[in-house]
Parts: sequence; C-alpha cells; structure tokens
Amino acid sequence: MAFQHKLSAILPDTASLSESGHLSLGGCDLIRLAEEFGTPLYIFDEATLRRTCTEYGTEFGSRYPDTLVIYACKAFINRALAQLFKEEGLGLDVVSAGELAIAKSVAFPLSKAYFHGNNKTREELELALDWGIGRIVVDNLYELSLLTEVAKRAGIVQDILLRLCPGIDPHTHRYVATGVVDSKFGFPMAQGKEALARALAAPSLNLIGLHVHLGSLIYELKPYQEAVEIVFRFAAEMKDEHGFELLEFSPGGGFAIPYTLDTPAPSTADFAQAITSSLLSVTEELGLNQPRLIVEPGRAIVGRAGVALYQVGGIKEIPGVRKYISVDGGIGDNIRPALYGARYEAIAANKMDADEMELVTIAGRYCQSGDVLIRDISMPKLEPGDIIAVPCSGAYSIPMASNYNAVLKPAVVLVKEEKAHLIRRRETYEDLMRRDIL
Ligand SMILES: Cc1ncc(COP(=O)(O)O)c(C=O)c1O
Repeated sequence: MAFQHKLSAILPDTASLSESGHLSLGGCDLIRLAEEFGTPLYIFDEATLRRTCTEYGTEFGSRYPDTLVIYACKAFINRALAQLFKEEGLGLDVVSAGELAIAKSVAFPLSKAYFHGNNKTREELELALDWGIGRIVVDNLYELSLLTEVAKRAGIVQDILLRLCPGIDPHTHRYVATGVVDSKFGFPMAQGKEALARALAAPSLNLIGLHVHLGSLIYELKPYQEAVEIVFRFAAEMKDEHGFELLEFSPGGGFAIPYTLDTPAPSTADFAQAITSSLLSVTEELGLNQPRLIVEPGRAIVGRAGVALYQVGGIKEIPGVRKYISVDGGIGDNIRPALYGARYEAIAANKMDADEMELVTIAGRYCQSGDVLIRDISMPKLEPGDIIAVPCSGAYSIPMASNYNAVLKPAVVLVKEEKAHLIRRRETYEDLMRRDIL
C-alpha cells in the first residue's frame, strides 16, 4: 500500500511505514535506527538526494542546455556527500578552504569548484590556486587586489567572476537576504564598474563572468528575474565601454523548499522557467551572447532528503499555559529556529497511527530559554522514550552545529535500499577534549 501521510510532501521520497508501523526511510525503520545509532540522529535518504540533483540538472538543462549545477556546500557537506555529488556530475560552491579540502579528499574535480565568500584569506586563496580551483568569485576591491597579487606570484592566470549586489529585496528573513543594498556581500552596482575595469586590467586575472546571490529561502520568482535584467543590462554597458564579454552568469541559489504544510514553495521547474526565460529574452533584446548558466542550489538539494530524530525525555505541563516536550537535541544541532525563527513540522515516528492529538511545544535540551525547536504543534500524546522525526532537517542544521554545553554532535547516516551507512560518527568525549591543553 502506498504511504499516505499528510506530511508526505515534506518527507524524503522513500518515506513509508515499516512492518512494525513505524516511520521508515530508505527501507529502514527509524526506531531501529535510533536504537542502533542513538539520538539525536540525522538521516539522509540517498534516493531523494540523487533525485534532486538530477531534477536541477534536467529542469534547468532542458530549458537552457549550457547549464552547470553547483551544489552550495554550506547547506551541508561531508566526504560521503562530496563523493555523491561527484558521481552526480555537479560542481561545488565552496566558501572556505575547509570545504575545498573535503572535496579534494574525494578527488572531486576542483575545476568545477567556485570559491565564494566576503573575506577569503590570503592562505585560502593560495591554497585554492595551488589545488587548481576552477573559479574565484571575487567579492570586493580588497580581494580583487589580493587575488591579483596571489595569482601573479603563483604564475597563474586565474578565472574569476565578480559578485554584484543588485539591491533587490527577495522578501526573506533579513539574516539570509544578501542581495539587498545594505549587504556585506558583493560589489554595489556603481562600484561594479570600477571592479570590472580593474579586473580586466589585471594580467593575472581572467574575468569571465558575473554572479549574484539574492539570499536564501526565496519563495518568489520575480526577484530572480529582476536580477537577470539588472546583471545583463550592466553586462551590455560594460561590453560597450570595455569590450567585456560575459561568458558565465550565475543567479546564485536560494531556492525555497516547503518546510511546513502552510508554506508551499515554487517547484524546481518554476525556478528554472523563470530564470531561463528571462535570460533568453534579455540576451536577445540586448544582442548579447548566451553565457553559461551556473545555478547554486544548496537547501533545495539536501533539505528534504534529511530528517532529524530526537528522543523524548522530560515533559512539563503548565496548566492553561503550555505543555513542553523536551528532546535530546536542540540549538546544538539545529540553531535555525532560534537564529531566525525557522519553522518545522514533526512526526511521532513510533506512533504513526495515533489519532488523538494535543498541542505541545518541542523544546531542546540546551541551557537557553530560546532553545525551542517547534512552538505549538499538534502531536499524539507523547511519553518519555518516544521518537520524534523532524522532516526537512537536511540543510543548515549540521554545518551550523556547535558543542554548546559540551554536548556531543550527532551521528549522520545515509539510508538506501534497507541499509543504513554511517557517514559521520557521533562525537565522543575524547573528540570534545582533543584540542584542549592542560
Ligand atoms: C553565494 C551563494 N550561493 C548559493 C547559496 C545557497 O543558498 P541555498 O542553500 O538557499 O540554495 C548561498 C547561501 O547562502 C550563497 O551564499
């Protein structure tokens, strides 16, 4: 019988019920995974990961063949995922030499890596060039000078893109809006002209493209279309003034996914259609060549593929006020709700057929009152020992995890065809103290 659950749309593709009636992913009963690997536990469904990779390639590539999809590692990367993205033929967006080192460790073709960030260090730039990185996405004038010098010393002519800040509000949380006027990222449009002229004049740099990234968790299509318009008009102007030829263009990432049932997001096809149609019409209107399109999804690739599992512990009811259900994770493994009010759904993985529900608040275990994972959610009657699954936990949870309260960071498993592979072991107390010096 096909799995039918009101949360199917935000669960990984392989979600089903196990023989014991528990929630199962990739053919693995989640209660058994919790017993085997402990909680909190992050579970990634390989089928969903590979499907989203293919979907981005197909939806953009069928409309605009010269497209390269590069996965934004900041959403979550480790060696197993880097290996998977390599197999899927994606490129990578990295923002540190650390992310680059993870990619290098699995022989990821670094010619398909794009180095982003507003304050890359000299050491990171030297390492990236030494390792043969494909592109540096230059963020500001200081970095432009620094890279010019680093590339010159290395005897390299480095391919670069300039990151422009188009001054567009994508109506997302201000902590994740990056293309607005008041942003630390990218060249304001007026300064972009100076940057472009300087880049063209630098013998150790080869300016091949322009990049924008408007922000993250963008539910609208129009901001992308506006960004395309702005960048191509700028490119046309720079062609007239400097003979600049735009060979690569990136509208960044930021594609929203539906975290909760009341926040539907556009489909991959919708994003692809909006961006590629604008790109085709503006290039035609301005008589420009069609550049290679670089899209940078992060959340959209890993978000829905990941589910977090927590075990219920203490329960506190304040009559007439609230019922707190405390779990064994929280801001240490997922800071998003506390940081910017991110919302999630939850399922009692061992009580899938319960029909009596009550309103509760799922609190984390950390010593901060703000450590609340989900406020006011309808759940079955929960007891200590129950296992709660939080869908759409694949993006920006683990990479922002901390050891606050000296709590160990969780394990991560990849499930596929009834097998669960540990792809990051749980931390140990030795890990916690490894760098301490007495
Ligand atoms: C330059 C750049 N590209 C892509 C992304 C990925 O964003 P998302 O995970 O929302 O797709 C980010 C995220 O901050 C980014 O800064």
